[in-house]
Amino acid sequence: MAGPVSSPGFFISFEGGDGAGKSTQIQLLADALRGVGRQVVITREPGGSPGAEAIRKLLLEGAADKWSPITEALLMYAARADHLERTIEPALHRGAVVITDRFADSTMAYQGLAGELGEKAVSTLYKLVVASRGPDLTIILDLPVEEGLKRSGATGDAEQRFESKGATYQEKVRQGFLEIARREPERCAVVSAKDGIAEVAERIREVIQTRFPKLLSR
Ligand SMILES: Nc1ncnc2c1ncn2[C@@H]1O[C@H](COP(=O)(O)OP(=O)(O)OP(=O)(O)O)[C@@H](O)[C@H]1O
Ligand SMILES: [Mg+2]
Repeated sequence: MAGPVSSPGFFISFEGGDGAGKSTQIQLLADALRGVGRQVVITREPGGSPGAEAIRKLLLEGAADKWSPITEALLMYAARADHLERTIEPALHRGAVVITDRFADSTMAYQGLAGELGEKAVSTLYKLVVASRGPDLTIILDLPVEEGLKRSGATGDAEQRFESKGATYQEKVRQGFLEIARREPERCAVVSAKDGIAEVAERIREVIQTRFPKLLSR
């Protein structure tokens, strides 16, 4: 069931704003994949390896303006390099399906397209760190910003740095993800996240059935 990359595994990323349902849908997709006998590794960004999880704390806690745009992007990419080396690539080589909760498109949307850094710098970092090691499939969960904040508002955790950047910024992030999908339609699928959990899960399965039918069959 090899994907477009040369390792035997398959690499899926989930993207979208806060509260869009990424964690919920990743769990459901992982269950479906395990149900047909696949080995599944669920991971997340920033984080996903011990070193990257340490960097996560630096990135997600504290004031919105804690880091300058370039420092923030470099920390994201430092974490991503470690995550790829220590977690994602070894799992793909073992033949697992790796599902990551956020990946490089988040840096492009948050720091590149919505943030002050701009897309050129982010795309330079992408080429340096990721290049051909990126996802075979990216599911972008699309939801109006207010809806997502309502859904995730209840959690009240310490990792609020990006939530605290405000609604205008979040709307730019949403548009950024849609722009990424327009640029790379073969890798990306935009799935509306407005409906119930089961409906959204069904849409994601349809995308996989259409594009990679072998993945969900025994
Ligand atoms: N389709 C849905 N309809 C209504 N509520 C949902 C739906 N999907 C998820 N939720 C609920 O919304 C909240 C946020 O969902 P979830 O944690 O999966 O989103 P997320 O994208 O991972 O958010 P975050 O970016 O904050 O990690 C949870 O309480 C979840 O149960
Ligand atoms: Mg989540």
